[in-house]
Amino acid sequence: MQRLAPALREDNVPLDLISLIKTVLAATKEISFRVGQGHLSGLMGSTLDENIQGEVQKELDVVANELFKDILLESGFVKAISSEEEDTSVAGNPDGKYIVSFDPLDGSSNIEINSLIGTIFSIHPAIDGMDASDPDMFKQAGNKQICAGYVLYGPSTMLVMTTGKGTHFYVLDRTYGGYLLVERNVQISEDTQEFSVNMSNQRFWESPMQDYINDLLLGTEGPRGKNFNMRWCAAMVGDVHRVLTRGGLFTYPADSKDLAKPNKLRLMYEANPMSFLVEQAGGLSVTSTQRIMDIEPTDIHQRVEVILGSKNEVNKCLSYYK
Ligand code: AHG
Ligand code: MN
Ligand code: MN
Repeated sequence: MQRLAPALREDNVPLDLISLIKTVLAATKEISFRVGQGHLSGLMGSTLDENIQGEVQKELDVVANELFKDILLESGFVKAISSEEEDTSVAGNPDGKYIVSFDPLDGSSNIEINSLIGTIFSIHPAIDGMDASDPDMFKQAGNKQICAGYVLYGPSTMLVMTTGKGTHFYVLDRTYGGYLLVERNVQISEDTQEFSVNMSNQRFWESPMQDYINDLLLGTEGPRGKNFNMRWCAAMVGDVHRVLTRGGLFTYPADSKDLAKPNKLRLMYEANPMSFLVEQAGGLSVTSTQRIMDIEPTDIHQRVEVILGSKNEVNKCLSYYK
């Protein structure tokens, strides 16, 4: 099995970007170790704090964020970082060529039940002439990403990453201490009979989404003429990983549960990197009106509607909005 760096060199990834990726992955190996310790880590509880988005921070959210932040800022490769757990961007090396956005721990509600969690990251070029402390540097569309990925802390720790030359799967080999390539150029099937959505929000969705999901539930007795299965991990990393592995449609639709917060998932460190991975695997990733990676960001913590996965099924879902 191929090691990470040679696999990246085969995709003509520049050496300094490979070094940055290795830095990112050093943090994930440390997080993987802490996550694997479970209760023994002493980090299973909640803190008394909330992040800027009003969500209670778990101890592991905070520790993962500190690990990531420190290792990236000390590396010299990054001009600034932005994280779900930081109010605004944090300046690094003024001469750094890259900026990194990350969700240090996705699926925090799964921590206490020993279920799937992960880390999501997105790398953009730094902008020359812009101050390292200016958060506007992060207002770059997803289509400008040069690398995106996630690490899934499941029964095995997996890295799924793209640098724009396909989406590849790697597994952390603990005996060797690094990630090994296990599948190159993953492809999402165009059709599927599996969908993924938090059904408890059903009554708050817009009517096109209600109609679409209703037709899936009608199965062979409805207009789709076939049965659909449903899966929901409550962690985007887990749900997107299933879609990349065996196809499917994943959505977190807009809802009216809290009018001040019509969408749940965050553009910069959830929707954009996942969209890059999904598109590089032949899938689609959109809102009900546009391609996610074409959205021009206005805020580093902005939220967005997400519909992604198997191409024909995403298009079918969109047809309900027309
Ligand atoms: P985070 O743990 O980083 O705040 O993200 C959780 C997100 C996402 O991973 C998942 O798809 C969604 O929240 C689940 O939310 P609900 O269970 O509230 O629907
Ligand atoms: Mn998240
Ligand atoms: Mn998180």
